[in-house]
Amino acid sequence: MTHTHKRLIAGNWKMNGLFAQLEQLEELAKSVTPAVAAATDVAICVPSTLLAAASQAAYGSELAIGAQDCHAEKSGAYTGDVSAQMLAEAGARYVIVGHSERRAAYAESDSLVSKKAQAALDEGMDPIICLGETLQQRESGQTLAVIGSQLEGSVPDTAEPQRLVVAYEPIWAIGTGLTANVAQIEEVHSAIRAGLVAKFGESGRGIRILYGGSMKAENAPEILAVPNVDGGLVGGASLTNAAFLPIISAAVNADN
Ligand code: PGA
Repeated sequence: MTHTHKRLIAGNWKMNGLFAQLEQLEELAKSVTPAVAAATDVAICVPSTLLAAASQAAYGSELAIGAQDCHAEKSGAYTGDVSAQMLAEAGARYVIVGHSERRAAYAESDSLVSKKAQAALDEGMDPIICLGETLQQRESGQTLAVIGSQLEGSVPDTAEPQRLVVAYEPIWAIGTGLTANVAQIEEVHSAIRAGLVAKFGESGRGIRILYGGSMKAENAPEILAVPNVDGGLVGGASLTNAAFLPIISAAVNADN
């Protein structure tokens, strides 16, 4: 299968990272040379506290900075929350929405995730919308039904579908060292592609679908070669450049 769009490797630092880590981010920014950036987009989604400084550290480079969540409303009495506009002002180009850790810990529904994705789009950022099944759902044969309904509920009806990014992250593979196998990834990614084409017509083919869940140097080449895998959402292995750079190289060298 030939690729119609550029890949995206997005790191997700989760609740990790202090100002001391910005030096490492600056080094990473230097590694994303124009040649690398011609082959793949690279982003790091940092905690909100680091957004402005991280954007500064990456300024003028090809490394994009992203956020990990946003509020669905533009502004208001939402103590402790951060709006999409605030994130964009601080330099975020991407926002992860609907990560399974947030769906689980804060009971975020598909419709809330869809509103957050729309809020990101409205502020000029590209949302990375996460979908994924639990182990119990997989073992009881519900994976495609769960992913299909999350997709239907979490992906907003936008006039600019090409700005959407969808991430398939099987919950049982996140932070566990387990990865879905190639056949499992191919099956779900092709179902997501079909769902996006059903929703958006031909434009659905241009939406990037990332795989996430214990992606690392060792498995990235194999995973990135799977049809309809357009990149990765990388947690643990994005925390050091030593672990992250080989994944970027795998995306550069992937030839499907
Ligand atoms: P992991 O996390 O790579 O550490 O499994 C991925 C994610 O949660 O986005």
